[in-house]
Amino acid sequence: MADKTLDNLFHDTLRDIYYAERKILKSLPKMARAAQSPELKAAFEKHKDQTEGQIERLQQVFEIIGKAARGKTCDAIEGILAEGDEIMEEYKDTPALDAGLLAAAQAVEHYEITRYGTLKRWALVLGLKDAAALLDETLQEESQTDEDLTSIADAAVNAEALSSAA
Ligand SMILES: [Fe+2]
Ligand SMILES: [Fe+2]
Repeated sequence: MADKTLDNLFHDTLRDIYYAERKILKSLPKMARAAQSPELKAAFEKHKDQTEGQIERLQQVFEIIGKAARGKTCDAIEGILAEGDEIMEEYKDTPALDAGLLAAAQAVEHYEITRYGTLKRWALVLGLKDAAALLDETLQEESQTDEDLTSIADAAVNAEALSSAA
């Protein structure tokens, strides 16, 4: 068996997040439709557009390492998105729906943040400066999205989930 190196790990993890991003792209319109708060709806729609750009950046990174842009099933994102689907079903038409959607979306962002943080560091170690810059750009977007979701939760959604139940 050939020795596997950081190059292999970088490529495999790139395929993992490429798969994840394309799944997320399909899921965001569903979440935007389900969201009750106009702010949350808008946040999901905005992030859908950003996600398209993130997928293009990943394609550029594949190009940099001379590999075809191909995903590899990511069980983690399947699980996180399945939990989101479950919330959409179980909390449909309830005051807690948006709070649940927010929590599900933040789980997605945190998964992405850990992946992009790792990939960026590995790219630097591998001397792939341009790839690291692309990955960092997306990392910043994911972090900003996470912060925006926190603001939306604090501003309205959690209080709404609480007060409407009274
Ligand atoms: Fe993303
Ligand atoms: Fe994201």
